[in-house]
Amino acid sequence: MNERDLKKLKSKKKGKERRAAQKAERARLAAAQLLVNQANAQTDPLSKFPSFINYERNGLTSSLICKKVKELEPELLQWAMNLCKENMRPLYEKSNQGWHEDEKVEEMTEDAAWYLIVLDKAANKPLAFSHFRFDMDYGDEVLYCYELQLEESCRRKGLGRFMMQVLELMAFSNQMQKVVLTVFKHNPDGMNFFKKCRYDIDETSPVDSYEETFDYCILSKMNKMKPTQKTSL
Ligand SMILES: CC(C)(COP(=O)(O)OP(=O)(O)OC[C@H]1O[C@@H](n2cnc3c(N)ncnc32)[C@H](O)[C@@H]1OP(=O)(O)O)[C@@H](O)C(=O)NCCC(=O)NCCS
Repeated sequence: MNERDLKKLKSKKKGKERRAAQKAERARLAAAQLLVNQANAQTDPLSKFPSFINYERNGLTSSLICKKVKELEPELLQWAMNLCKENMRPLYEKSNQGWHEDEKVEEMTEDAAWYLIVLDKAANKPLAFSHFRFDMDYGDEVLYCYELQLEESCRRKGLGRFMMQVLELMAFSNQMQKVVLTVFKHNPDGMNFFKKCRYDIDETSPVDSYEETFDYCILSKMNKMKPTQKTSL
């Protein structure tokens, strides 16, 4: 075989390999999307974990519920919006994006939104919530934690960490690849908290450069039972 034929053969082989990798990637994405759809089709992803529906520690006597935004009582949704505004507005105002209430309300009420809510049993009032979603993120099936918000009165009692554990349970039992979240760098409480909960910088987190710096970072915790099958195309 002469050099020209050899080159042709090599390039044919490469093309074949590339097409096979593209096919495998399409199949992976379809399988990932199916998992996301299945997770979203549940009525209550928390119902499989009866031992995680109460949090009775450090002076708190509370219960957890999990609902899609459409099933959430309007008063609870309003409370969540108010708490989010109270906790986050100063941080958004310090950021490059600023606080845009309409956008936040829209995000919090989109059909895809799920809510994990903690209720004080005795007073029957809400204490904390997480807005999260089962979603595709940069080609991965993930549980994205959009918000984790606690009333000031119930902080530093282990509740936030417990809620993250519940999100992780729901994520990994539904075969999500990871739990992902965004946190402002100028939120030291949040940064410290997620570090303590063993969240690391995600591969999709933007990297500061000479031209551009970012005031937020993306953190994640991987599902150790599910090694990534992403192909490098
Ligand atoms: C951040 C937040 C969710 C933490 O929840 P929490 O229930 O108070 O946290 P926990 O009690 O589970 O804390 C777990 C660990 O995180 C760390 N941590 C929590 N809050 C911290 C703070 N304010 N400063 C430093 N470390 C903190 C501690 O190591 C803590 O363990 P320790 O109390 O044994 O020292 C809560 O403070 C909050 O809702 N803040 C306002 C909204 C916000 O910033 N949300 C996160 C970004 S979206």
